[in-house]
Amino acid sequence: MKNIKKKQFQTADGSPTLYMEKFDEYYHSKHGAVQEAEHVYLKMGLDFWKNQYPNVKKCRVFEMGFGTGLNALLTAQKATQLQLEVNYHTIEAYPLTPLELKEVNYNDYLEATAKVLFDQIIEAPWETSHAVTAHFCLKKMKILLEDYLPEQPIDVLYYDAFGARSQPEIWEDHCFAPLVDKLSPGGVFVTYAAKGSVRRALQNLGLKVSLVQGPPGKREMIQAYRPLL
Ligand SMILES: C[S@@+](CC[C@H](N)C(=O)[O-])C[C@H]1O[C@@H](n2cnc3c(N)ncnc32)[C@H](O)[C@@H]1O
Repeated sequence: MKNIKKKQFQTADGSPTLYMEKFDEYYHSKHGAVQEAEHVYLKMGLDFWKNQYPNVKKCRVFEMGFGTGLNALLTAQKATQLQLEVNYHTIEAYPLTPLELKEVNYNDYLEATAKVLFDQIIEAPWETSHAVTAHFCLKKMKILLEDYLPEQPIDVLYYDAFGARSQPEIWEDHCFAPLVDKLSPGGVFVTYAAKGSVRRALQNLGLKVSLVQGPPGKREMIQAYRPLL
């Protein structure tokens, strides 16, 4: 959205993030964008799921909030590392322009192969599935969470919305329900949030919910899963 102002900001681990004036929010933790994403979504999400199912070769990931593409990038790298075929669906209501995405400039922070991968991710077409690598197929969709119904079952769900302080409406039960409904048995839901109301909403939707170690600067976060049948 060209008319929404964003500013760059360097986080504590040296990796950049953006600040969006409309919501008065940073896209990532000021304590470290990459560290946060790696901890919350990779370690507590995808790695946790993969450790439960070491022999499974395919995984369907859903991300609420594509944002700068950082979670997508880290997941694409992990997919290659694990030799796991990841089908990644992500939604974003306010896509950053290609120029804004380039200006976030993870490039100064990333090694050469990651730079190429990041460009492929941000240049991938919207609304269609695109094989970015042999192990990472990406579908980016421009849509409001409130209007979205998942197209495929979800094994790992990254809930990476702006905080409830600025967007309380997307932390309510009715927003989680259509996503959680598609979470496969054994499927994992992760978010950086730890709020009691979010935990209760997920419990009411049938998930087993835990508070686990949070990323740097945050004591706890939510990790939940759908029990096996
Ligand atoms: C915390 S940021 C996501 C960061 C992102 N995962 C990344 O790796 O850079 C939250 C994102 O949710 C998007 N968003 C806000 N409201 C939304 C809504 N109602 N539906 C879909 N996306 C929304 C914002 O534009 C923003 O990109």
